[in-house]
Amino acid sequence: MTAVCMGGCLCLYIVFILIQHGNGEACRKMKRAEHYSCEGRNLTSIPSSIPSSTEELYFSFNFLPSLHKPVFPWLYGLRVLDLTRCYIQYIADNAFHNVKNVTTLILTGNPISYIGPDSINSLHKLHRLVLVDTGLSSFNIPFNNLTKLQDLNIGTNNIKSVALPVFMTNFTDFCLLDLHANNISIIKVNHTTVLREMRGNITLKLSRNPILHIEPGAFQDILLRELNIQGAFVSLNALTDGLKALSGLDVIKLTIGSYIPAISLKGVDPYYLDGLCLIKFKEIYFLQKESSYYEFHVLHCMVNATKITLKKGYLRFIENVPFHHLKELYIGKNDLSEIPKLSHLHSLEKLVIINNSPALFRGFSDMPNLQYVDLSRNQFSIKGCCSYYFKDMPKIRFINLSLNANINTDLKPFSGLELLEVLDFHHTKLDIIGKYGVLQNLKYLTYLDLSYTRLTFSSPSSFHGLNSLKVLKISGNTFQGDILSYLFSNLTVLESLDMSNSGIDHIVWTTFKDLQRLQHLFLSRNKLMVLDFLTQPNLPSLTQLAVDQNNIASIQLNTLQNIPSNLSVLDLSFNPINCLCTQTDFILWIIKNQKLFPHPYNILCKSLSPSTTLRVTDFDTQSCINIRRLKIVLSICAAIVLVSASVLVYKFQFYLRYGCIVLRGHRTAKQGEYSYDAFIIYSSKDECWVMDELVDNLENGVPPIKLCLHVRDFEAGKAITSNIIDEGILGSRKIIVVVSKHFIESSWCRFEFEMAQSLLVMQGNANIIIIILEDVEEKNIKKVFGLHKYLKKNTYLKWSRNPLNNMRFWIRLRKAVIASK
Ligand SMILES: *[C@@H]1O[C@H](CO)[C@@H](O)[C@H](O)[C@H]1NC(C)=O
Ligand SMILES: *[C@@H]1O[C@H](CO)[C@@H](O)[C@H](O)[C@H]1NC(C)=O
Ligand SMILES: *[C@@H]1O[C@H](CO)[C@@H](O)[C@H](O)[C@H]1NC(C)=O
Ligand SMILES: *[C@@H]1O[C@H](CO)[C@@H](O)[C@H](O)[C@H]1NC(C)=O
Ligand SMILES: *[C@@H]1O[C@H](CO)[C@@H](O)[C@H](O)[C@H]1NC(C)=O
Ligand SMILES: *[C@@H]1O[C@H](CO)[C@@H](O)[C@H](O)[C@H]1NC(C)=O
Ligand SMILES: *[C@@H]1O[C@H](CO)[C@@H](O)[C@H](O)[C@H]1NC(C)=O
Ligand SMILES: *[C@@H]1O[C@H](CO)[C@@H](O)[C@H](O)[C@H]1NC(C)=O
Repeated sequence: MTAVCMGGCLCLYIVFILIQHGNGEACRKMKRAEHYSCEGRNLTSIPSSIPSSTEELYFSFNFLPSLHKPVFPWLYGLRVLDLTRCYIQYIADNAFHNVKNVTTLILTGNPISYIGPDSINSLHKLHRLVLVDTGLSSFNIPFNNLTKLQDLNIGTNNIKSVALPVFMTNFTDFCLLDLHANNISIIKVNHTTVLREMRGNITLKLSRNPILHIEPGAFQDILLRELNIQGAFVSLNALTDGLKALSGLDVIKLTIGSYIPAISLKGVDPYYLDGLCLIKFKEIYFLQKESSYYEFHVLHCMVNATKITLKKGYLRFIENVPFHHLKELYIGKNDLSEIPKLSHLHSLEKLVIINNSPALFRGFSDMPNLQYVDLSRNQFSIKGCCSYYFKDMPKIRFINLSLNANINTDLKPFSGLELLEVLDFHHTKLDIIGKYGVLQNLKYLTYLDLSYTRLTFSSPSSFHGLNSLKVLKISGNTFQGDILSYLFSNLTVLESLDMSNSGIDHIVWTTFKDLQRLQHLFLSRNKLMVLDFLTQPNLPSLTQLAVDQNNIASIQLNTLQNIPSNLSVLDLSFNPINCLCTQTDFILWIIKNQKLFPHPYNILCKSLSPSTTLRVTDFDTQSCINIRRLKIVLSICAAIVLVSASVLVYKFQFYLRYGCIVLRGHRTAKQGEYSYDAFIIYSSKDECWVMDELVDNLENGVPPIKLCLHVRDFEAGKAITSNIIDEGILGSRKIIVVVSKHFIESSWCRFEFEMAQSLLVMQGNANIIIIILEDVEEKNIKKVFGLHKYLKKNTYLKWSRNPLNNMRFWIRLRKAVIASK
């Protein structure tokens, strides 16, 4: 039973996968759940495979000339429906029956010629309707039931009038009417009746219309959230008159100006914007493209504004206007020849004057509420910064003086500016910061950017007192001597430190010993060769380290094993990594930890020719591993051979010695020139018998026989082996071997015997006489090489204690010694 069920489940699962796959062909599920995209596939209906729970459907660039019910499957969850550029001409009444919960409908770029009265109207929940570029020439579209509508975008059409249909007064949530780029040229008083009645929170966009004339009073008592009339007038005269005709309008934000610098302002009335004085607004955004060498009065009508943005104009001076409500002033990319000497603006909180080059700056004063000053990108040079330039501004927290030319500071540059939190000087030439602890009083400073300020840090107290500093950027500067090791002491809350491109070639670990909270460390484009500063247990919080474009050839195993545990980004790109088999461990570590590297493919092997680049991740570590294994095997073999050889050498030491002697060429003794008649090989334990019996009987007999005994006859001071050979074996005519148990046990005796055999064999005579002193077991005899042979041939004399036998023994022995070969 369960098996059947499981089989069934499996089948269902496979079918599910197939369906999913089928979807993939027409529509793509987007990253966010329940969003589908079927864009640009020339589909003629919405695929029924799209799940009914789909919330957003992007269906632009398909082919739906006629919208009616069957086009849509049942999509009860659909909220956003984008049908941009689907060749829609005809929208039937029942078209949206299956998608009636839609809140956003986008019909941009369709050549709509018919909209059924009950089609869009049935979308009771619609908030946003976009009919951009649909060829509409009026508001004569059936959307009267859409009382929830908030946002109607009807831009880029041929609408000639702002007169809204009366039913829109019921649209209580309505807030955005976008009529940009239509054909509105005249606005009359009766065109604005509905707008006036709707009162309140509406944004009206009339930009890029060809307005010629506005009837005075048309905007009297109209309340808007925002009015955008950028590029909305055919001429400057129309603008001048039009602004005056906006008299009585009450708007929060007014956006004026033009998009294209089409009109020259030559000969134009400097007060051409005076109509603004008749409009009540709080914020003004003025994008001016016109150029002029005349002085225009644009600010005096903005005297009551709280926020003024003047962008991209050709403003040359700023009038002395007594702003009382101004909180934010933004002047960007103008032709100002001087940063206006603003003062007494008691309400001003934020001031941005950027992108005026090259400008003069003589300072500000008496702006007690000013907190934020951005004067970046002005190319000015000032001396004696900074308190003098920001006088009586006790609340300043943010100063941006970056991208200026030259700033000379005095010795107490920030007195009176103790609340500073952000200070940015990057790419501006500075002088004494870095030589003295001039930042001492900035105990609230959290962000300091001194990058590329041509400083040389020479004082360990450069950053003293910055107890709150979290971000420090000092890239593109230089450090004197070993100052780096002391520079960051006490910056205990620092989280990010950028020292890129600073010519650093080594860092000692003490440099970072106080930076317990440092998370981001940027050391790109330096000359570092090692990262050993990481091995110490400091930088515990480090999560990101950039050391790209340094001289790192390798990182030691020790360092790799000790990198901070929370490190999740390590940029090693463009270092001359040594791709050698000796580095296999490091390279394998890189390959294994690719997640760590933001650009693993930029980690390259050092190469001699710039045309060949090898990625470290492509390096053939396997062959290195094979070579390494081979080496291990070979060294084990070598060790085995060595040990075996030592064992063999030990075991056969006598033969080796003998071999040496032979090689030394001991063949001096000539036949017939013997010093002795016989050399006795015997165990010293048998010495009694040899001395008492053998020597006595042979030497004292007639004729006397001269024996060679090592105890007696060997030359002192000569190596014993040489003695054996020179004196004993080669110096004697015969060799007498006294075999006994002791003889068998003595390795010296064996050696002497074996050497005697081989030397004599080599010399062609084998005059060895064996005396068996006592019986020895057969198996022991075999221990002595060659002895067995003699015994077998019965060429031996046996000693016995019987005196009668003794007599015979001595006679035979004497005979054997004397007998010539
Ligand atoms: C899209 O499909 C329609 C009808 O199926 C066809 O007439 C039209 O040429 C197609 N367009 C493209 C770009 O394939
Ligand atoms: C639109 O509203 C009118 C009057 O309230 C109603 O009769 C009509 O059925 C509505 N149309 C649609 C499509 O909901
Ligand atoms: C705009 O309207 C005028 C008449 O008011 C007309 O002459 C002109 O052709 C229209 N422009 C466009 C692009 O429809
Ligand atoms: C006014 O409209 C804006 C959107 O244009 C909206 O964010 C704001 O909440 C509205 N305010 C009121 C009071 O309705
Ligand atoms: C500024 O406001 C004052 C007082 O409300 C008013 O008298 C004056 O006309 C206004 N000025 C401008 C230019 O709007
Ligand atoms: C300072 O101004 C420059 C240039 O306008 C900008 O890039 C930088 O982000 C600003 N600094 C701060 C801290 O906002
Ligand atoms: C670092 O801080 C400690 C404790 O806050 C203080 O005693 C010491 O003087 C400071 N050192 C420097 C160099 O600022
Ligand atoms: C490492 O990261 C974990 C989780 O983000 C965090 O809880 C921990 O405090 C971090 N360790 C250090 C030493 O910052």
